[in-house]
Amino acid sequence: MQTVRGITELEYAFLFTLRKVNSIKLEGFKQFFNDMPVDPYIKGNYRSRRLSRFTVNGNELIKLPHGYFYQSKDYNPLLGDIKREFAELDSALIELDIFKNLIFAFTDSCKLHPEAEIGVHQIRISCSPDNLGNPAPEGIHRDGTDFIGIFSVDRDNIQGGETHLYTANQEEPIFSKVLNPGELLLVNDHEFLHFTTPIKPGNNTPGTRDVFVLTSPSLLSD
Ligand SMILES: [Fe+2]
Repeated sequence: MQTVRGITELEYAFLFTLRKVNSIKLEGFKQFFNDMPVDPYIKGNYRSRRLSRFTVNGNELIKLPHGYFYQSKDYNPLLGDIKREFAELDSALIELDIFKNLIFAFTDSCKLHPEAEIGVHQIRISCSPDNLGNPAPEGIHRDGTDFIGIFSVDRDNIQGGETHLYTANQEEPIFSKVLNPGELLLVNDHEFLHFTTPIKPGNNTPGTRDVFVLTSPSLLSD
């Protein structure tokens, strides 16, 4: 039996994995990132965001009722212990086959329990020649969940936005990469801290970085 860090293969789910999800044609997602409400919980208007939660039943995606997003201050020193509320994902987006493919890529890769709840954050970070966009204003952090999936939808006229993973005790990232559109990074939140570097425009016009961040459990409650 092969072992990873002394844990047998049977016992560990995974540490992190980078996948290219070829079944997803990204064009179908792009229009849904254009009319996103600004995230009111951080300073500056550079992050816009929607959030919904789902479970999977066989081949079906089941959307759960609207809920509040809550992270403990232990995990999010900036916005922990605050109930945050965001607009739901567009219903036309949720109906897309590519959206279902994305959720299943996440649940299959993480081998989630059939009843597992999945939070789907749709996030656009914007930047301009005068203002950087900061995908992780809380700094290097954990989300306080079990599994995280970061799926890159688009990088339009930006530099930076490099995603890093860290083990708890090391200062240097053990993984460091710009996630290109179509790539899904799966992370065991118990094993790694994560961070994404700020973005700035590639030329003197604004730029955007569009992602879906999936987590299980969802960290949403009624
Ligand atoms: Fe995070």
